[in-house]
Amino acid sequence: MSSPVSSATEPDPILVCVAWPYASGPRHIGHVAGFGVPADVFARYQRLRGARVLMVSGTDEHGTPITYEADRVGISPREFADRNNAIIVEDLRQLGLSYDCFTRTTTRNHYRVVQEVFLRLYEKGYIFTRTQLGAVSPSTGRTLPDRYIEGTCPICGYPEARGDQCDNCGNQLDPVDLIEPRSRIDGERPEFRETEHFFFDLPAFADRLREWIEGQAHWRPNVRSYSLNLLPDLKPRAITRDLDWGVPVPLPGWRERPDKRIYVWFDAVIGYLSASIEWARTRGTPEAWREWWQAPGARGYYFMGKDNITFHTVLWPAILLGVGDLNLPFDVVASEFLTMEGARFSVSRGRVIEVRDFLSRYDPDALRYYLTTAGPETTDTDFTWAEFVRRNNDELVGTWGNLVHRTLVQAHQNFGAVPEPGALTERDRRLRAEVEGGFSAVGGFLDRARFKAAIGEAMRLASLVNQYLAEERPWHRIKEDRARAATTLFVAIRCVDDLKTMLTPFLPFSCQRLHEMLGYTDVIAPQPRVREVEDDGGAHLVLGNDYEARPRWAPSCIPAGRPLPRPAALYRKLDPRVVDEELDRMRARA
Ligand code: MF3
Ligand code: ZN
Repeated sequence: MSSPVSSATEPDPILVCVAWPYASGPRHIGHVAGFGVPADVFARYQRLRGARVLMVSGTDEHGTPITYEADRVGISPREFADRNNAIIVEDLRQLGLSYDCFTRTTTRNHYRVVQEVFLRLYEKGYIFTRTQLGAVSPSTGRTLPDRYIEGTCPICGYPEARGDQCDNCGNQLDPVDLIEPRSRIDGERPEFRETEHFFFDLPAFADRLREWIEGQAHWRPNVRSYSLNLLPDLKPRAITRDLDWGVPVPLPGWRERPDKRIYVWFDAVIGYLSASIEWARTRGTPEAWREWWQAPGARGYYFMGKDNITFHTVLWPAILLGVGDLNLPFDVVASEFLTMEGARFSVSRGRVIEVRDFLSRYDPDALRYYLTTAGPETTDTDFTWAEFVRRNNDELVGTWGNLVHRTLVQAHQNFGAVPEPGALTERDRRLRAEVEGGFSAVGGFLDRARFKAAIGEAMRLASLVNQYLAEERPWHRIKEDRARAATTLFVAIRCVDDLKTMLTPFLPFSCQRLHEMLGYTDVIAPQPRVREVEDDGGAHLVLGNDYEARPRWAPSCIPAGRPLPRPAALYRKLDPRVVDEELDRMRARA
């Protein structure tokens, strides 16, 4: 891989890979805090720099995470996945997540790409069959998928580990490893019988993975050390399951079998590639995906929650190395967990806030602001309604909204346009220089996926401009020294315009409105749309759009004399009573 180059003139292609949400139900704010919002902030910033961004993901629809929930609801996995895909697409659209292609893992295109990758690895000898013990229900004779089994984790002793993974220590497991295994359906102890599966030879890549990960000094330290720790224990990993829901094994004698499917994680990670190929094909440029996957300067950034690290730093890179001519991830940006009012999110206990429910009462930018400033970027954090209201009122409305409002109202009322400035004072110039410095400061943080620091710097600059206005008091001056008031408001408007650009990645909806209130007629914060795409006879929803990549990450040149429309409030102050209302709502759901 090439080293990080930051050439301001022609940025390299940037691939933004966002973890694929399970199509197991509506998304709650814990889900979108860890990967959806940070990935979108990053992609929007890169586009504003003029980079060619491709942002891909989709719903993860195979495997026991889906069959388990579909069984509970009493419908087929396909119908269940269809329903949830439509809901999730709408959740993500409403949040303004600017995917180029958010698709599904049940498309023909995805099946084809997964099977091609499988065959390529098989032909190179990285995939082989082996017999292992599989769980079977003694009473029904049916195989018991991993997720239907629980027991004590052999690694950390957590008593409710699942057959596929321990939620306490995060390790991947096999059901036979569990101590005291039992079926989650009826509590009976499974029998383990011999069954033949395909295995992926992870140990064959251990040395190359180690060398590669050691070279990634720019990764978040926890991601790097966690990943290095996994390497000594690498074992061949079963990549098929006894299951009827998933991608068929593309080999004679296996393809037809109704009871063997490719493991959901093996298929899902390949989704980054298949979605890129789908995007290229639907645009009528079928080879265009290569620019993000094969060009030496292209950089892939992967966003996910910390429970997904191993799949993105070991399994997926090993697949990529095995295939041979595809770029490895450049950065793996894993975030920590969000809890809610002091405890884990729990759908069954009502301790959950669905995105769609949240957005029925609050604005998407208010949520995006909270998740960026108080989200789980590098440590687990707790969502509380009190803190949501406080940050909304004191920071978003109090600092930034207030700056915009008083600047634009004064300019509009007294001048009806961007005022004509006189000569700038030393104080004016100092402020302009400081705010313009935000493009490299905020941009530098964003380049390194340091979102909290980035928005913190932009908000600090907003406070400086507020302070400037409080000292200069153009609303007082306007009577005795109209020329000086005009200069002050001109300076403030240029600062507001700069901060608008810097905040657009975080607050796309309100910054687009502000852009228009500043008299611009174009789009600075494009939004994704939902379309139906044909797929070999079927059709599926895709969330995406064609986003312009025009460099805009630069100081304001807004001209004096430009007419300004009447400004409107960008943000809503929340009544502190909503805290109790929301807590009551949460208790009612429990
Ligand atoms: N569906 C998984 C989860 O929610 C994430 C899959 S990421 C992918 O934990 F890369 F595998 F797609
Ligand atoms: Zn454990």
